[in-house]
Amino acid sequence: MPSTSSWILVCAFLCLSLLARAQTANKAIDAEGNQWWQHAVFYEIYPRSFADSDNDGIGDLKGIASKLDYLKDLGVDAIWISPCFPSPQVDFGYDVSDYENIDPMYGTLADFDNLASAAKKRGIHILLDFVVNHTSDQHKWFLDSKSSRTSEHRDWYIWRDGKGPGQPPNNWTSTFGGSAWKLDPTTNQYYYHYFYAQQPDLNWRNPAVKDAMFDVTRWWYKRGVSGFRLDAVDTLFEDPDLTDNPVKPGTNAYGDPIEEDKYNKKLPEVHEALRGLRKVADEYNAVLIGETWTANIAELNLYYGHGNNELQLPMDFLFTTVNKLSAGDFRKQIAAVDSASGWPTFVISNHDIVRSYDRYGDGQHNDQIAKLMAGLYLTLRGTPIMYYGEEIGMKTTPPTRKEDVKDPIGRTGWPKEKGRDGQRTPMQWDASENAGFSKATPWLPVPETAKTHNVADESKDSESVLAFYKRVLKLRHTSKALLDGTYAPLNENDQNVLSYLRVYKDQAVLVALNMSGTEQKVSFDWSKNGFASVKSLLATGKSSASGSVATLEPYGVFIGQLSK
Ligand code: GLC
Repeated sequence: MPSTSSWILVCAFLCLSLLARAQTANKAIDAEGNQWWQHAVFYEIYPRSFADSDNDGIGDLKGIASKLDYLKDLGVDAIWISPCFPSPQVDFGYDVSDYENIDPMYGTLADFDNLASAAKKRGIHILLDFVVNHTSDQHKWFLDSKSSRTSEHRDWYIWRDGKGPGQPPNNWTSTFGGSAWKLDPTTNQYYYHYFYAQQPDLNWRNPAVKDAMFDVTRWWYKRGVSGFRLDAVDTLFEDPDLTDNPVKPGTNAYGDPIEEDKYNKKLPEVHEALRGLRKVADEYNAVLIGETWTANIAELNLYYGHGNNELQLPMDFLFTTVNKLSAGDFRKQIAAVDSASGWPTFVISNHDIVRSYDRYGDGQHNDQIAKLMAGLYLTLRGTPIMYYGEEIGMKTTPPTRKEDVKDPIGRTGWPKEKGRDGQRTPMQWDASENAGFSKATPWLPVPETAKTHNVADESKDSESVLAFYKRVLKLRHTSKALLDGTYAPLNENDQNVLSYLRVYKDQAVLVALNMSGTEQKVSFDWSKNGFASVKSLLATGKSSASGSVATLEPYGVFIGQLSK
């Protein structure tokens, strides 16, 4: 039996390690108390499409590892890798069949460990994509759950009797088309799936599910991940009474009635689950990004949690709903997010939405507009999350024939909904065949524009979109005003030019963005802020400023340092 003194030693050791962990949690990186993720630039990698090291036409972890130097040089501090866990790939990885492994098509756990240590050496954090709402129907939990009404995991999913013969329990529809309920003939009950039928929803009301999911995050934190992007958090909980959703007039792309997801989305219980995930994250100084489709800032605030105890980085998708170059609309949205209760998170593209290059581009000045958008969201107060290929001006290239569609919703919803293949095409590394992504035919075709928009060529061109992204990111990393400064809008009635100051103590940076296709001359009155003149830090083309007047070419960007 250990002696009393050895017990005391063990207890002292445990207390000290707990204290050490508590201290590393939320470790500030500057005098303002900012955390690492507030100064970091994040970059989403869709692993199927980034870099293919084994030439099977699908990207992989070794491919990502081979591009870390590129990412470092670009100015990326953290990568979020979309799901790379074992999966039947019905939803290209968002149907996970094992949370604690790597899908063989992407490599092995050893490859992940190598990637993690190579990234760490370069100061790049790795975040994984945690699909919290549902598993694959091939996950062992679901296989057991459906095996009998009395199985150990039966209550890990949402099973109900139908309303009557051939009738699902209620009117809820899947966001990917059809009823959200599927009858399982073995046990003669329906299970609920908000997404594809192969993605059964987990029952988060079951404490065993919660604990198992929390343990998954611990497992990866211990392996070196710095956090997670939490997938589809809005849909974690459903009304236990299964109240029918209100139905609106008309039908959607899948021919289903249009429903208001009142009883199966954004239920208050979601926040309790997020607080639990956050508690675990805090033990590891980790960061949680949320896929949060909020309707307004009040909803966004709920996701930060009271006293910021939920998500550190809930994405502001309202920013992506400003779908045209409108100085007024962006100004309004930025002000709203700037007043939110937590640190803003800006995104302009991802694997589910049309790329920013096409959403804002006019077909003629797309490269200038791509630079304009970089000048915008990379200079705001908050953390930007880039999407692979955005930095080279990759465009959305949707399939033109139904038989070429890979994303199942593009087949169900054709031609109204063409699916998300268009924004998931292979990364364009060079002008060679398959854009240097793979030696084999890629899983999705390489867009024609790879000939003009690719990393190799743009790296040699000082006027390229890539060169501009690198310059803005460099500035962002070195300017205290851009990192920590407050946001102060200027000329708030200007419908063409969006301008603002980022002010940090006695330093200020001016950002002026011409959102119109004509040259603009703008005068600023920043005397109330105590500044007299401006010196250029970065500008596109002929855009310039002198004294307190800026002249901006069409879609031009001017960023300058103010002096007293
Ligand atoms: C999220 C993902 C999307 C996926 C869905 C279901 O919205 O971003 O790609 O299809 O969740 O997991």
